[in-house]
Amino acid sequence: MQEFIITGGRPLSGELTLQGSKNSSLPIMAAALLGGGETVLKSCPELTDVYSASRILNCLGCKCSISDGTAVIDPAGAEGSEIPENLMREMRSSIMFMGAILGRTGECTVSIPGGCELGPRPIDMHLAALKKMGADISDKGGRIRCRINGGRAHGARITLPFPSVGATENIILCAVTAGGETIVNNAAREPEICDLCGFLRARGADIKGDGGSSIVINGVEELHGCEYTIMPDRIAGATYLSMTAAAGGEMILKNACVAETEPFLSVLEQTGCTIYAGRDKIYLRSCGRLRAVRERIRTMPHPGFPTDAQAVLMAALVRAEGTSVFEENIFDCRYRHTAALIKMGADIEVMGKVAVVRGVSRLHGAEIEATDLRGGAAMAVAALAAEGTTRLSGIAHIDRGYEKFEEAVSRLGGDIRRV
Ligand code: EPZ
Repeated sequence: MQEFIITGGRPLSGELTLQGSKNSSLPIMAAALLGGGETVLKSCPELTDVYSASRILNCLGCKCSISDGTAVIDPAGAEGSEIPENLMREMRSSIMFMGAILGRTGECTVSIPGGCELGPRPIDMHLAALKKMGADISDKGGRIRCRINGGRAHGARITLPFPSVGATENIILCAVTAGGETIVNNAAREPEICDLCGFLRARGADIKGDGGSSIVINGVEELHGCEYTIMPDRIAGATYLSMTAAAGGEMILKNACVAETEPFLSVLEQTGCTIYAGRDKIYLRSCGRLRAVRERIRTMPHPGFPTDAQAVLMAALVRAEGTSVFEENIFDCRYRHTAALIKMGADIEVMGKVAVVRGVSRLHGAEIEATDLRGGAAMAVAALAAEGTTRLSGIAHIDRGYEKFEEAVSRLGGDIRRV
């Protein structure tokens, strides 16, 4: 098992070009399964989750190859409709293939997906929506079989009880080649939804309203191939900015999606960091001792503060002057990183969905283990701001979402080694 050895306590500085977005790449790779023609995806991050998606595509009969940040996907031979349990377990986004396989073949067999353990992550909204679009669904011992009578889904009016990102994506994937019009009300508004829709439009889909809470999809008969560039990863961006904010120093983030990162930036700015944002660049300077954030940091669906940036911002605030309060409203169990931060000297009290972070003047290195993707990244943020050396295990979690993490941190001058 690999580990990161991180020696903290020195300021960071430098320029970093942001990787393509993990949470865009995965549904877009599923979308490449639909219709005909080859998809060329530029800025496709080389991550273990992306390789899992590639294995699923190949297992379904697609030809998918990834090299030098470009994925090439040819769905011509994609006759398969079953994803084996071991591939489903590799990541949460495997569930996204359900809508795409149904759209392509009219049937699919999957199982409950794996992914970060952030509390219960049911798929009831996905299944209820697909049922409305004509799928018969049965669950036998955890294997979920879906079948559409006549082979082609039909449009439907669907109102989601919560703007779930994954359910919105699955509905879009099933609806683009369905017969008739699908309307998704209370749809997720995350930028990655817009990226998925942008990709599908480039292939000939008829989708309107993405980015707002009602999305209208008119099914088309065919989709064609295209070349598409995946949007930058706003959460990886938030992670590297939090890192420099915590350790002190200055950095320029290039290829940044500035508008999409705004809900995070507006909170980070309250810590006293100097931030300038241009068209696709973000400059940050930090003296290394932040101010606590006065207002409660509530995670909310976009355009609220992103749950995926909660842990990394918390890691930056553990050494801030004053008390910051977080409220996690998306997942039930997304404070697992706090145990490691406390081991490093942080003063954090978790009470249900609220975490109270009382700033301490110093952190120290420790032996800690990443338990999920963003929690693991948060531990690295804290380690870079801590005195002494940290041994961080469980880094396979970090590799799921951060492309060449140690290279990026080293480029900023951080002392990190993979052993
Ligand atoms: C996506 O997960 C992201 N993953 C997550 O990022 C992100 O944290 C999350 O959206 C929220 O922004 C990908 O895009 C691959 P949801 P997803 O469906 O789609 C409940 C990361 O670190 N729910 O919006 O799984 C659910 O339990 C990852 O990169 C149901 O109850 O999130 C959760 O409480 C982690 N029933 C809430 O909705 C359902 O059928 C939001 O989940 C579906 C969801």
